[in-house]
Amino acid sequence: MKKQTIKEILQDYKKVLHHDITVYGWVRSFRANRFIALNDGSTINNLQIVVDFENFDKEIISKISTASSLKIVGEVVESQGAGQTVEIVAKKIIILGDNFTEELQNTILQPKKHSLEKLREQAHLRFRTNVFGAVFRIRHALSFAVHSFFNQNQFFYINTPVITGADAEGAGEMFGVTNFDLNAIPRTEEGEIDFAQDFFGKKTNLTVSGQLEGETAAMGLGRIYTFGPTFRAENSNTTRHLAEFWMIEPEVAFNNLEDNIDLAEDFLKYVIQYVLDHCKDDLEFLDKRLEEEQKTKPEKERAKEGLIEKLQNVIAKRFKRVSYTEAIEILLNSKENKKGKFQYPIEEWGTDLQSEHERYLVEKHFESPVVLFDYPKEIKAFYMKLNDDNKTVAAMDVLFPGIGEIIGGSEREARLDVLKQKMADMHVDEHELWWYLDTRKFGSVPHAGFGLGLERLVLFVTGMTNIRDVIPFPRTPKNAEF
Ligand code: 4AD
Ligand code: MG
Repeated sequence: MKKQTIKEILQDYKKVLHHDITVYGWVRSFRANRFIALNDGSTINNLQIVVDFENFDKEIISKISTASSLKIVGEVVESQGAGQTVEIVAKKIIILGDNFTEELQNTILQPKKHSLEKLREQAHLRFRTNVFGAVFRIRHALSFAVHSFFNQNQFFYINTPVITGADAEGAGEMFGVTNFDLNAIPRTEEGEIDFAQDFFGKKTNLTVSGQLEGETAAMGLGRIYTFGPTFRAENSNTTRHLAEFWMIEPEVAFNNLEDNIDLAEDFLKYVIQYVLDHCKDDLEFLDKRLEEEQKTKPEKERAKEGLIEKLQNVIAKRFKRVSYTEAIEILLNSKENKKGKFQYPIEEWGTDLQSEHERYLVEKHFESPVVLFDYPKEIKAFYMKLNDDNKTVAAMDVLFPGIGEIIGGSEREARLDVLKQKMADMHVDEHELWWYLDTRKFGSVPHAGFGLGLERLVLFVTGMTNIRDVIPFPRTPKNAEF
């Protein structure tokens, strides 16, 4: 018979009631030598196993402890106790994996409260905890919903290269890729590194975005999206930056900026609704966890809404759409700015917004997700469409409460001459991007797209506060363990 997960057993218990079944899982707790809480990762809920001590080999019983892995055969019965509908009366228990008891003492598998920092140090074990089980099941659901949304809307999933010669964002924050012997790097006669002798015969790096290649695909397939690992060598040690993260980048031929904003809003609402519909148990668990955490905070710092309520509110309202120029006006006139409360005071039109400004707009001023658009051209990437004012580009950032920027995108500059001028102004190498320029030569069309950082979305949906806790093995400055 097909193995059943604990999730299936608990959901469809009527089908197996009074039958003998086989279950597998890890022990979460073993109370009074009688009750085992068994979990197999399929759900946050444990299955209760009742052990009639007298009927079992005492040696086996003595070996069962937290974290043991078991195979159990037993009868499904209606539960006598509160807290669960059914339980299993064990007839046979097989220990699959022994515990190294002494070493177990030093791990986060010890059943007591551990800090998230401690859990991070043992990231290879944290999948066994309730919090990380919930986070990673939700991360899965969000990823699945991403594919489902685009598939339903006739987008094609395109895999863009991880190794590339292009710096898509023109920000130079790239990890180089080479197979040179680092102790004997070949040089040209001029003393420069001779990349012609490297594996790819040119300088290459890990991608910072699949957008440019994605654009070429959109120029033939119409609607495409990428969803892959993305790398940035920016030295930002914040709770919102990773050196390796997963980005989703749709690109749509014939879309303008407004279409792009509509798409971003529909997309975010769809994936959040998907999780509300499919991850109820995990969300409720995280909601309660957050509520407990709130109680330890001073009244003023507490969140106004619970996790699930927050998600429902984001879906219910239309996002506020505000131009960069309006946003600067609001910030310039804010009490915070006048009283010098911002770490980076806003002085004039043209300055880049910091996350404190974004969060002021979202959390204090509008109390709603905000889409900012039409940014000064100087602070945005070369590929964005130049507006008629010659000062701004058709950029858009979606800002979320507690997160700040969750999406960044734009309508693209489809005019070859304007694009070339922008590249020259911003010192982007035209020769390196010859293939990108080709898209503007043969049937160029208006098009637009954006990038969503999956981890920022998971942060928002789970209510976790550090981005290192929503990716299994975070890569950050000075940290690439596991
Ligand atoms: O705003 P960004 O840099 O935009 C792009 O890369 C465009 N090429 C996207 C496009 O138009 N196709 O990044 C997009 C999103 C950000 O809004 C953020 O959610 C996420 O990617 N992101 C990061 N997430 C985690 N760690 C980092 N270091 C991130 N940098 C960007
Ligand atoms: Mg951005």
